[in-house]
Amino acid sequence: MRKKIVAGNWKMNTLVREGVALASDINTELKNINLPDDVQVIIAPPFTHIAFAEQVIDGNKLYVAGQNCATENEGAYTGEVSAAMLKALGCSSVITGHSERRAYYHETSEILAKKTEQILKNDMMPIFCCGEKLEERKAEKHFDVVKNQISEALFHLGENDFSKIVIAYEPVWAIGTGVTASKEQAQEMHSYIRKITDEKYGKEISENLTILYGGSVKPANAKEIFSMPDVDGGLIGGAALKADSFIDIIKAIL
Ligand code: 13P
Repeated sequence: MRKKIVAGNWKMNTLVREGVALASDINTELKNINLPDDVQVIIAPPFTHIAFAEQVIDGNKLYVAGQNCATENEGAYTGEVSAAMLKALGCSSVITGHSERRAYYHETSEILAKKTEQILKNDMMPIFCCGEKLEERKAEKHFDVVKNQISEALFHLGENDFSKIVIAYEPVWAIGTGVTASKEQAQEMHSYIRKITDEKYGKEISENLTILYGGSVKPANAKEIFSMPDVDGGLIGGAALKADSFIDIIKAIL
């Protein structure tokens, strides 16, 4: 069964006390919602908050993700956090390939392939982000860009590993800008991602692939975007930093 996911990427926001309060508020409000088995809610706080956030949430309703991880498992890599360390804290997934990491930290497909392997090796679910820049869309290169991002970082994986991946389509021009892709633009790219997955891994895996949309999702537009057949949820930035708006977005997928 294809999972639906609403995930909040907090990015580098909140101090630990605020973050723990946010996690606790989301957890409390989630208790009033009857979440179907196929819907998963995830928060991705900064690394420094994860251990504390874990203490205030019910792990069977609300899951915790890392926002990033190292390419290596352990060793002399000052400042890095490994997938194994995140797993040991109770994380069930890790975001990779976010456009901010590609742009500011020069993360290449080769690096993202290694990170994805680390996440899988530690029995967690990679949430792999892809998406084109505005100039690439204007030049009508958006399909090629997304295809290259996915095939370069993921298509070396075997069927079993690939079936654990979640893909988040986040057009760079829609992130933090207030400009959301139209529901048609999201659907068109999501169905393209499913098509290239089908070509590589076959129907069963492509039909079960969860594809999230990210980029200025808010309570006001979530329902419309989630109504599209190939949109299986969202990766939410700004609107995930307030419990009320995050909860409203979760309700939009029910
Ligand atoms: P916004 O929802 O703030 O546009 O951010 C989206 C995002 O980058 C989630 O990873």
